Amino acid sequence: MIVGCPKEIKVNEKRVGLTPLAVRAYVEAGHEVLIESGAGQGAGLDDEAYRLAGAKIVANNVLVWEKAELIVKVKELLPPEYPLAKPYQIVFTFFHLAASLELTLACLERKITAIAYETVTVGGELPLLKPMSAVAGRVAILAGATHLASFAGGKGILPVGALGGPPAKVLIIGGGVVGQNAALTATGLGLTVTVLDKDPVKLDLLRPLLPDGSKVLLNEPNTLVSELKKADIIIGAVLNPGAKAPKVISREQLKLIQPGSVLVDVAIDQGGCFESSRLTTLSDPVYVEEGVVHYCVGNMPGAYAKTAALALSEATLPYGLTLASGDLKTVLLANPPLLSGLNAYAGYLTLKPVAEAFGLEKSYRASLTALS
Ligand SMILES: NC(=O)c1ccc[n+]([C@@H]2O[C@H](COP(=O)([O-])OP(=O)(O)OC[C@H]3O[C@@H](n4cnc5c(N)ncnc54)[C@H](O)[C@@H]3O)[C@@H](O)[C@H]2O)c1
Repeated sequence: MIVGCPKEIKVNEKRVGLTPLAVRAYVEAGHEVLIESGAGQGAGLDDEAYRLAGAKIVANNVLVWEKAELIVKVKELLPPEYPLAKPYQIVFTFFHLAASLELTLACLERKITAIAYETVTVGGELPLLKPMSAVAGRVAILAGATHLASFAGGKGILPVGALGGPPAKVLIIGGGVVGQNAALTATGLGLTVTVLDKDPVKLDLLRPLLPDGSKVLLNEPNTLVSELKKADIIIGAVLNPGAKAPKVISREQLKLIQPGSVLVDVAIDQGGCFESSRLTTLSDPVYVEEGVVHYCVGNMPGAYAKTAALALSEATLPYGLTLASGDLKTVLLANPPLLSGLNAYAGYLTLKPVAEAFGLEKSYRASLTALS
């Protein structure tokens, strides 16, 4: 199979879908690999390293999309990429379709075979989302701490405390992978942490990992209100896999938060979990509403491209090799984790929460075997 890796075009996104190590594995499995020149540069991976690993370097993304049967990327397709995708071309990347009607319609219109990292599921876990969530959870605390600074619109308290000033209070809503990594980073820096989740099982798993003094509680309305009033940094880290993020803080509740506090909506890639959230970029990450600083970057791990690219490529490699190993339908039907990653195929949606997010139930098919 011809496997292609174009350069990411999202603002300040420096990650790359394939590292030279991954390229070598595809080449050794008998595939041809095309890498867009400069694709890995932002993550410290130059064209020469890819050439040595056996890749063919091509001048631009048009050539990659034109020739490759399997595209391995990082972020969702952006409008300039829609017309480059060909019918039945397999695109293996983060899609977050429930957050974008425009991209969902483009996948249907272009008949893209969309295999989304974020819905590949093994034993109830999301192994391809997990490494990026681990990075994003840690970045969330660093971003929250940075924007507590006076110059950034924050309330001007030093997050780690000093000279009798107490450390910042962090509220984390969602105690999964992002939540756990945020909580461990925050407590490691000496910040005071409260985690809320709707799932008591998640809370029981998290509780023993955190130091004394941390609070791990069920997300109930009264608890949420009381914690919102106290928090300096609030991290939104909820997920219902494949679906639009649930809204956990309303506009009304925003008024309860102290001015100069920082909201970090990590779930913005799934549409955002605060009613007042709107997508921002790594180069222009914050805005202020009701006096509260909002950080809503959809590609937070992209800020630390080398760490993130190596972790992502390592996680996706075995799945990508399987995808490239034979006839797509046969491969998917024999591999439930990869099948759970299939969001769109042959002009139909194959993931129900995405169809439901946009009232596109007529374009939904539950079974791959029914599609030609
Ligand atoms: N912005 C970024 O750059 C970036 C990077 C990585 C991950 N993410 C996103 O972060 C989000 C969280 O990912 P994750 O890997 O931690 O998911 P996860 O499944 O590990 O954890 C999500 C948690 O949210 C909880 N939850 C769901 N609804 C809730 C509610 N109403 N109240 C309280 N808790 C609730 C679930 O019980 C679960 O424990 C996802 O949307 C993911 O796509 C964003």
